[in-house]
Amino acid sequence: MQRLVEPAEIQNRVRTLGQQLSQTYHDQPLTVLGVLTGSMLFMADLVREITVPHRMGVVHASSYRGKSTVGGELRVGMDLLPDIRGRDVLVIDDIFDTGRTLERLVQALDAYHPRSIKTAVLLLKEGRSMVSFNPDYFCFRIPDVFVIGYGLDYNDDYRHLPFIGSLEPHEI
Ligand code: XMP
Repeated sequence: MQRLVEPAEIQNRVRTLGQQLSQTYHDQPLTVLGVLTGSMLFMADLVREITVPHRMGVVHASSYRGKSTVGGELRVGMDLLPDIRGRDVLVIDDIFDTGRTLERLVQALDAYHPRSIKTAVLLLKEGRSMVSFNPDYFCFRIPDVFVIGYGLDYNDDYRHLPFIGSLEPHEI
């Protein structure tokens, strides 16, 4: 495993993003929506750096099965979605890879009549996008490698690691 982003770098960048969001959403009805499961650590740290009042919620999306590192059938779940009508929604995900997950989620959330929807991701994988939009905010740009840690998993392992690492092909 190779270490790509250290805990202190994550902490600094998340703090800066939290400050930026606090200014952007000042006096607005903000709901931060985390995409389970990968965004859990990022969301927990980010909301504590957003100094304006806001609500939190979660939705579910999954595309990998078991040991595969290639996206499979995409499933989104809105069972836990709080009421977002008239609210400014910020969707938080771990990584923007092909962008299909966020594209699908934004389309699905639109049906619940939020006032606005923006997206923020921890990682932006280079050269992989298959959609016509970019996330509104991202913390780190990374090369096209399979990453784990700080919420990201391989076969449900590694999510708890405080840093972001990449797995070598022989480890996958
Ligand atoms: P898309 O392609 O829809 O992918 O932007 C978003 C979701 O796919 C997962 N993903 C990864 N998970 N290491 C992971 O642990 C990776 O390198 C990786 N690339 C994509 C992730 O769940 C993300 O929300």
